Amino acid sequence: MSTLAVGIDIGGTGIKGALVDVGTGELVSERVKVATPDGGDPDAVLAAVAELVAGFGPDADGVPLGVCFPAIVRRGRTMSAANVSRRWIGLDAEALFEQTLHRGIHFVNDADAAGVGESRFGAARGTDGLVIMTTLGTGIGSAFLYDGVLVPNTELGHLEIDGVDAESRASYAAKERDELDWAPWAARLQRYYSRVEFLFSPELFIVGGGVSKHYEEFLPLLELETPIVPAVLRNNAGILGAAWLAAQPGGS
Ligand code: BGC
Repeated sequence: MSTLAVGIDIGGTGIKGALVDVGTGELVSERVKVATPDGGDPDAVLAAVAELVAGFGPDADGVPLGVCFPAIVRRGRTMSAANVSRRWIGLDAEALFEQTLHRGIHFVNDADAAGVGESRFGAARGTDGLVIMTTLGTGIGSAFLYDGVLVPNTELGHLEIDGVDAESRASYAAKERDELDWAPWAARLQRYYSRVEFLFSPELFIVGGGVSKHYEEFLPLLELETPIVPAVLRNNAGILGAAWLAAQPGGS
């Protein structure tokens, strides 16, 4: 039985994808990246994804295709647009992609896909109970995995802390915007993770997003009861998670 699938990770600035083996969690192709079209309009993004998928050649024909995206995704419909074009709100994205690409698609929130990737193949492999994956980027994404099963669309980046949307203070973009060194940013992260820890008492926190490769600069500054570890799949977590979900029975 073939375990090949394609995973595509759509972000505000780039769209990444690869052909993967969902049995082993290995990338079978190079990881390909194209710029997200200006404005992030759904049709333009879809055209870019179509081109990217075609680039994988005949090996990728007909294999399950998973797509992750930075929005609440309910039954294939994108229901929010925190850092992307508002035209995605209420769009039946999965059906639109299926019609254009002529194949079954599994559409999922980006942090949820990354959490599934880390749960199956990375930092949370074998951890029971509640694992909370957070991605620190333009926004803050979150994924809940309970005994390895995804509880989707948790959106903890939008937890209100000190009267503001948490991601507006603690995301990596907020660090850049406010020109914060590691320590003052870590103080914001401390406030954020302490609150999440208090509310959910997880077994493990995983921290992803591009900045997680610098985890030594900020994770040791945090004081939490819960172990907090960097993602191990880095930029491939979303690709792998989306592909894995698509390859499940009834997944795409
Ligand atoms: C969005 C989430 C997304 C996260 C990371 C947030 O602003 O609301 O849906 O997972 O950013 O991209």
